[in-house]
Amino acid sequence: MQGLDTASRSHSVPPAPVIAIDGPSASGKGTVAQGVAGALGFHYLNSGALYRTVAVAATRARLDLENELGLHDIALNINAKFYGDHVELEGQDVTDAIRTEAISEAASRIAAFPKVRSALLERQRKFRRLPGLVADGRDMGTVVFPDAALKIFLTASPEERAARRYKQLMEKGMSANMAALLQDIRARDGRDSDRAAAPLQKSADAILIDTTRMSVAEAIAQVLALYKQASRAP
Ligand code: CDP
Repeated sequence: MQGLDTASRSHSVPPAPVIAIDGPSASGKGTVAQGVAGALGFHYLNSGALYRTVAVAATRARLDLENELGLHDIALNINAKFYGDHVELEGQDVTDAIRTEAISEAASRIAAFPKVRSALLERQRKFRRLPGLVADGRDMGTVVFPDAALKIFLTASPEERAARRYKQLMEKGMSANMAALLQDIRARDGRDSDRAAAPLQKSADAILIDTTRMSVAEAIAQVLALYKQASRAP
């Protein structure tokens, strides 16, 4: 009887709440998600960093990026660790390596393969721990955490997103070209939205936040207010 009791009690423990923040490239998801996680003391999952790390591992292994089975194997087995913004692959710091333009492109390509996505599913779900999780990506609310307490679709106009990326690159002392950045953002939007596997799309139960004319602080405040509302609802 004791065993039964324990079992039924463990079933009644509600899972850690999740705030899913999805949206297109350079919409500010990461910054907003980290701000929300910090304010609530929640864990944070940057799922894009996971896809980027698989892209780095595949590139380093000189794998053909069309080799879906090979990519599946890498995605399933990579030894990657995430510490805030820092990422380690096989014990090596790859924080900067996952952010290059070549890896952005490779990540977006390999993310289109269903076998890569399925290999990363459980790994992403393991980030769900008490007191809660803020997860950002493309399919957090639609595929990975469909029971999220709050689903946000964060976006901004392509021009605004290109301008933000331009500013970021300038601040890092890197050269950038606005027209090329805009073209790249449009191409990545197209690839993320048109792919068959977990395409980027706002689900009916996600709340749209357009940050084109909004500061980061305002966007964070809005998500926190929505979460307060959602967690009060019966
Ligand atoms: O920095 P950016 O917003 O462009 O990308 P990211 O969030 O770091 O994600 C890198 C790539 O991984 C994107 O181009 C997406 O195609 C892909 N991705 C995905 O397919 N699903 C996710 N949940 C997160 C990222």
